[in-house]
Amino acid sequence: MPAVLAVHAAVAAVSGRRLGLAGWWIPIQLAFPFAVALTLAWRIPGWVFLAAFAASVLVFWNSFRGGVPLYLSNTATKTALAGLLPDDGPFRFADLGCGLGGPVLALSRLKPEGRFSGLESAPLLFLASWLRWRLAGSANVEILPSDFWQRNLGDFDFVYCFLSPVPMPELYEKARREMKPGSLLISNSFEVPGHSADSIIEVSDARQTKLHLWHM
Ligand SMILES: C[S@@+](CC[C@H](N)C(=O)[O-])C[C@H]1O[C@@H](n2cnc3c(N)ncnc32)[C@H](O)[C@@H]1O
Repeated sequence: MPAVLAVHAAVAAVSGRRLGLAGWWIPIQLAFPFAVALTLAWRIPGWVFLAAFAASVLVFWNSFRGGVPLYLSNTATKTALAGLLPDDGPFRFADLGCGLGGPVLALSRLKPEGRFSGLESAPLLFLASWLRWRLAGSANVEILPSDFWQRNLGDFDFVYCFLSPVPMPELYEKARREMKPGSLLISNSFEVPGHSADSIIEVSDARQTKLHLWHM
């Protein structure tokens, strides 16, 4: 039986590659026949898969329609972001698609004079970031169940996003239309084709993060 599964897995991996699938499919195709066999052997009830699928949809809500998956800003990036914010005086900061709320919660502690808004439309991520915020009790933060396309960016002095290449051209146009003179758009990693950033901050982290800055 394991030999049959191994042959099945190898044929799937090789043919997938020959048909042009990306390299990250290979481990999935190698593991899949064994996963199916284990599922049948352990008699896992069908509702477990339905629940896992529903949870994935509620987390990766924006992956299909908006082309934006979930990955999180790291500590070095949050520190670099803090360096861009004023130490005194009030200002407003938004994280467009705040994920688990990490950047707004960390920055709100470092910059108590600022007001921080996390906008998130994936239901389970909104719930997780909202709970983190309530547990942290940060008075200068709000986490909103909001689609950032529906939100006027003119409310903010600093707009941060860590999205994907897909929404960047449209988001840049929206920022240019709505953001106030003197405000700053910050994109983690993703550029805007045809509109070079005014400056780029290179974060010293393992993934060599670049923060692209456009002054409005
Ligand atoms: C790559 S994650 C970044 C999370 C967080 N900003 C961070 O840096 O840790 C992108 C997030 O944007 C959210 N998102 C994508 N499109 C959105 C939209 N139109 N409105 C609100 N959130 C959105 C996704 O659900 C995801 O949580």
